[in-house]
Amino acid sequence: MAGIFVKSSKWNLNTLTGNVKLVIAIDIGTTSSVYAYSMSSDLCGVHLNKLWDSGDRGLCSSKTPTCILLSKTFEPIYIGYDAQNEYKLLIDENEEDDYIFVDKFKMELYDAKNISDEMKIDDIKGHPVPAIQVFSSMFSLLKKRIESEIKNIDSRLINNNVQWVLTIPAAWTDRAEFFIRTCAEKAEIHNDNLMIVIESESASVYMHHVFKELPNKYLLIDLGGGTDDITAHRVSKKGKLHEICKPSGNCHGGKHVDKQLFSCLEEIVGKQVIQNLKTKGNFLELLNEFENINYSISTSNAKHIACKFPLPLLNELCRKYRGKEFQEVLNYSKYKTSLFLKNGKLRIHREFIIGFISNVAALVVKDIQFVLKKAKPHDIDTFIVVGGFSNSNVIRDTFENAFPTVSIIYPVSDGDLAVVKGAVLYGQNPNYIKPCKKTANLK
Ligand SMILES: Nc1ncnc2c1ncn2[C@@H]1O[C@H](COP(=O)(O)OP(=O)(O)OP(=O)(O)O)[C@@H](O)[C@H]1O
Ligand SMILES: [Mg+2]
Repeated sequence: MAGIFVKSSKWNLNTLTGNVKLVIAIDIGTTSSVYAYSMSSDLCGVHLNKLWDSGDRGLCSSKTPTCILLSKTFEPIYIGYDAQNEYKLLIDENEEDDYIFVDKFKMELYDAKNISDEMKIDDIKGHPVPAIQVFSSMFSLLKKRIESEIKNIDSRLINNNVQWVLTIPAAWTDRAEFFIRTCAEKAEIHNDNLMIVIESESASVYMHHVFKELPNKYLLIDLGGGTDDITAHRVSKKGKLHEICKPSGNCHGGKHVDKQLFSCLEEIVGKQVIQNLKTKGNFLELLNEFENINYSISTSNAKHIACKFPLPLLNELCRKYRGKEFQEVLNYSKYKTSLFLKNGKLRIHREFIIGFISNVAALVVKDIQFVLKKAKPHDIDTFIVVGGFSNSNVIRDTFENAFPTVSIIYPVSDGDLAVVKGAVLYGQNPNYIKPCKKTANLK
């Protein structure tokens, strides 16, 4: 289907109850975060956050990386690109040990067995930090930015009753949701004004809102950095969305690809080297290089993908803990044909990475098959696929092979913003989706 057509909303701000004049949605992603809002005074619809300036890279983007810089006493300093850029300066000046940098922390709430106010997550150097400080600081810095942005448009609005909406993956437990509410409350986003919605459900609301012609049954699949979120929806005769079964999901997102690559590196050099690497130099740069792998594979046909690599530091650590330099350690490993060094950069064979992506794609296919089974007797023959990882050709080819009779829609624009925009629409009308009673989490 080409392009996105805007159809007039059947539900708009008039459906808001009470004196809510502003709906603000925040989507904290595993990789990157974004917010959007709508104002009752303005019928233009959903506004996306002011673009985020990446700083030295000279780019502006709609989402900012999910990371935070805190002081040693857990005072929030910066989030996103600002946090990354400041942290780099601190490293250059050897002052980074006076600060705490926490990167890509969202999935900690997926993995953790015992989520509580005392829960700790590791900062980039592996030091434990209270999770509540990390999440609540992220919310409070986002809230500050949102408020100043909205004040610039209409200063009266922010004093009104605001409906806040936060998005979470379907795979999260009730405990994780409760924890998020606690963190939001700490950031003065009060529970009475807070709706928590499932990411794929929000995306479905958005797609239903903007697509002129949607089939009356479909799966909405949000493939993000951390999770695959899957929702089965049916459009009723009155044009409302009905859940066919409860949304479900798993930890099968794009990050699974760079995690596999990182595990290879750990297998090659050993745990001690990696632990030391984390505490020295710009480990963040290496993580970001690995994270770009999915994007590099999609946008280039090169036989090898090159990554900036802290070779001098790795050589030093390999000499210390393995008695030889990195190249020699690599030569002794089973990865010696998949990875090699050239001009100080690590080069990785394309097919090797494609193998990693295919592993994740196969897991996502299983998750989809699980939902299709749950959704029986509805024979669903349309998928709408959104989220950054859905841009991967490996993912697309795998879906085509696994579901040859299904019509698969990849929105050409806005696909990565469907979750946050849908969350605003959902906040405007919490009755947008009629829930079903069954539960069906994969976890
Ligand atoms: N062009 C591309 N090709 C392949 N993968 C891509 C592309 N662009 C982004 N990705 C991958 O998409 C993922 C990020 O997607 P997205 O922004 O939807 O995730 P998120 O919202 O941060 O995570 P989640 O929703 O799972 O918490 C990353 O793993 C990234 O590598
Ligand atoms: Mg997402």
